[in-house]
Amino acid sequence: MVELRRGCDRQRLVAAAVSTLSTMKPPMTVTVTGAAGMCGYSLLFRAAAGAMFGEDTPVRLRLLEVPQAVRVAEGVAMELEDCAFPLLADIEVSDDPLVGFRDCDLALLVGAWPRRVGQERADLLNANGHIFATQGQAINEVAADDVRAVVVGNPCNTNALIAAINAPDVPRDRWSALTRLDHNRAVTRIAQHAGVSVSEVHRVAIWGNHSAAQYPNLMHATIGGRPGAEYAADRRWFRGEFIPDVAERGARVLEVRGTSSQASAADATIDHVRDWYFGTEPGDWMSAAIWTDREYYGVPAGLVCSFPVTSDGERLSVVEGLEIDELSRAYIDRSVTELIEERDAVRALGLI
Ligand code: NAD
Ligand code: LMR
Repeated sequence: MVELRRGCDRQRLVAAAVSTLSTMKPPMTVTVTGAAGMCGYSLLFRAAAGAMFGEDTPVRLRLLEVPQAVRVAEGVAMELEDCAFPLLADIEVSDDPLVGFRDCDLALLVGAWPRRVGQERADLLNANGHIFATQGQAINEVAADDVRAVVVGNPCNTNALIAAINAPDVPRDRWSALTRLDHNRAVTRIAQHAGVSVSEVHRVAIWGNHSAAQYPNLMHATIGGRPGAEYAADRRWFRGEFIPDVAERGARVLEVRGTSSQASAADATIDHVRDWYFGTEPGDWMSAAIWTDREYYGVPAGLVCSFPVTSDGERLSVVEGLEIDELSRAYIDRSVTELIEERDAVRALGLI
């Protein structure tokens, strides 16, 4: 196994100097898998610039790759050094999960093969599932006791399920999968439709799987001060345009761009991490796929499903007590059926 360490002396000196200031917090060790890939390339520079934890928190970056991509990851590490980010305490590149996840506080599991035109995300289960079994085991063994993880690599809900089950000592509420990109897409679509700013859209929620069967729900939203249900009442628009536009946006980007979403996925990952660590705004929520420790809204225990969730800075919790109308029920059930099928498929592959 190759283990490579990149010296980052200038940044270390600067980080050491600033850490003497009483306002600086201890460094966060962040492992990014797929560090030579395109999402990784968008994510790493913003992470090093302080976009996730703010300007008072130095970051130690661990770049984890497969052996054949380590050299590219080293090139990325060189560029990171060349930015002279004051908050970047150090960088390590490795192809060994037991090295890459050692003492890691936050694991961003991005590394996996993206889909190609014509594929659904679930088509990646065979290719990607084993990656998350191995990485779950490594996180279990060597990560920090209070590690948190965000799975981005697709199909992200079920990959998070695989990783969580393979990490029996890591509490299940530390695992999450990214549906924030879908959430952000839904916010933009409804803001455009209503002619309001995105900052006037609250309490949109993605339910279910990060797939074409997801349910972007407006029933509890407020849009420019008006109830989202008023917009959803236009069923031709809500069912015929809004839901498919959001749910199939990834495929549309892939078709138009030729490769899947990357910078927008990195941006959504940063939003997810910030809201998790800093807490959601009072009265508002984020969308994230989390482990169901029991049944919520008819979604059975033991899945990684997207819900409206709040964070108190530590824990992501499902928003409870929302009324689920008949239409929403049907969409949520369809998405959960797909999650159950994916879970059964990875069980048959022996990954859980
Ligand atoms: P990419 O092909 O550019 O990069 C993937 C990288 O992962 C490659 O460098 C590859 O070497 C690396 N990799 C593969 N197996 C690995 C392993 N075992 N350990 C470490 N690294 C490994 O792909 P990308 O565009 O960066 O996308 C990465 C993943 O993120 C894909 O699965 C994609 O579908 C997914 N994605 C998810 C969302 C979301 O909203 N959840 C959004 C965008 C992309
Ligand atoms: C997305 O939603 O853009 C990503 O999950 C990539 C994909 O395959 O759609």
